[in-house]
Formats: sequence, structure tokens, C-alpha cells
Amino acid sequence: MDEWQGFVFVNLAGDKAVPLADSFHEDSANLDNWPLISLRLGHSYRKTMDCNWKIFWENFNECLHCPGVHPELCKMVPIYSRAYMEPRDDPDWQQHLGSCDPKLAGGLREGAYTWTLDGQAVGDSFEGLTEQERKTGYHYVVNQPSVFIAAHVDYVRIVRLLPLAVGQTELQVEWLFSEETLADKSINIEEAAAFAKLVMQQDAMVSELNQKGMQCIEHQHGVLMPEEYDVHNFQNWVREQIKTL
Ligand SMILES: [Fe+2]
Repeated sequence: MDEWQGFVFVNLAGDKAVPLADSFHEDSANLDNWPLISLRLGHSYRKTMDCNWKIFWENFNECLHCPGVHPELCKMVPIYSRAYMEPRDDPDWQQHLGSCDPKLAGGLREGAYTWTLDGQAVGDSFEGLTEQERKTGYHYVVNQPSVFIAAHVDYVRIVRLLPLAVGQTELQVEWLFSEETLADKSINIEEAAAFAKLVMQQDAMVSELNQKGMQCIEHQHGVLMPEEYDVHNFQNWVREQIKTL
């Protein structure tokens, strides 16, 4: 058992358990400027998805599905509308160096500050964030296969995956806000969570569709696209984990 910024992690692998610090994905954001330990639960959502847990993670690791599955998110994060997760996914990324256009450089659309329906912050945004952290608007910490944390300027979302069966996974999502935001009765917390909840529901829906496709009697295997490099990394990670069993 170990603790990180108020989160308690339990590893049941006994002697094989790696140190907590080594278990985070190497590309995880540094959330030292977020007041994680003082945040409180404001909203939660659970859904039993009819898919294997690996299908959900594969979906998490690519944005080829974004234009077709997440029309609202693609408006909020314009580079997603190009099916790219980040600027360097574009083969011509060097030509766009220094661009401020979020469709090329990533980050939120102009006038948006966070993942809410109108892009406006819920209550006051967190003090202590850098200009760049505010500008980017979303930061991920990943600890697969159990959890990822999405940090915004005004709230933090925890997404946990609990495998229930070979073809069933529970999605557990929690939204954390400051005590001041939760105490402000003029703020509708459910509405504040609605945008990210919609995105999660879209991901759950497409993961279930993918599961159905893989169960098709004609299915042999798929072909990864160049944009799915992180799916390939995830699949290699799974292979490495299986070797240690
Ligand atoms: Fe998605």
C-alpha cells in the first residue's frame, strides 16, 4: 500500500509489486500544482460496460475514434477533430511549430478554460497553476490498468476500471472540487460534470461496440494504424505483464 497526493494505492502482487512511483505511465503529467489532497467528492458515476477492460484502455490510447464518437469534445479540443492526440501525431508537425491554433498546437478551443458544457470554469480555478497548465486545460496521470486522473483548472476527474468478467468492466468516475466550489449553492455540480460524463458514456458505448465486433465469428485480427502507436505500446505492455505471471 502506498499514498500519492491523498490517493491510496493497494497492490495485491505481493513480492512482485513495483514501487508506486514506477507504476505511473512515463508520460503522466506532474500535478504538483493541483491541491489534490484538499479536494472533495462532488459527483460520481458508475456504469457496467459490456466490454473487456483492455478494450477500454485501447480506446483511451488513440483518438482515431474522436471525430466520429466525440463531436462535442472535438469542438472543445480542436486537435482531436483531426484524429490526433497531440501535435506530434501529425506527420507535418514541424511545419506547425509555434502555431497558436489549437487545431494544430493542441489545447482547448479559444474562449474555453475547462471541460464543461460551456467551457467556463466551475467556481474559482485553482490557484498556483502555471500559465501553461491553464492554457493546456487538461492533464492526465495514468496508472494502468486501474486508473487515470484528468486534471483541469477547476476540478479533477478520477476514472477507475474494475474488471467484473471477461466481457464486463465497471467504469467508476468521480469528480473532485474544492470545498469552496462545493459550498457555493449557486453552482450546479451535476451540470458541471455533464460534459465529461457525456465523453465517458461515448467511450463506453464505442468500447462495447468494439467488443461485439471482436466476438464476430469472422473476426481474426485487426490492423493498427500509425495513429494507434499508443495502442501498440499498450498491447506490448500487456504482453510484458503476462510474462511475469
Ligand atoms: Fe474517446
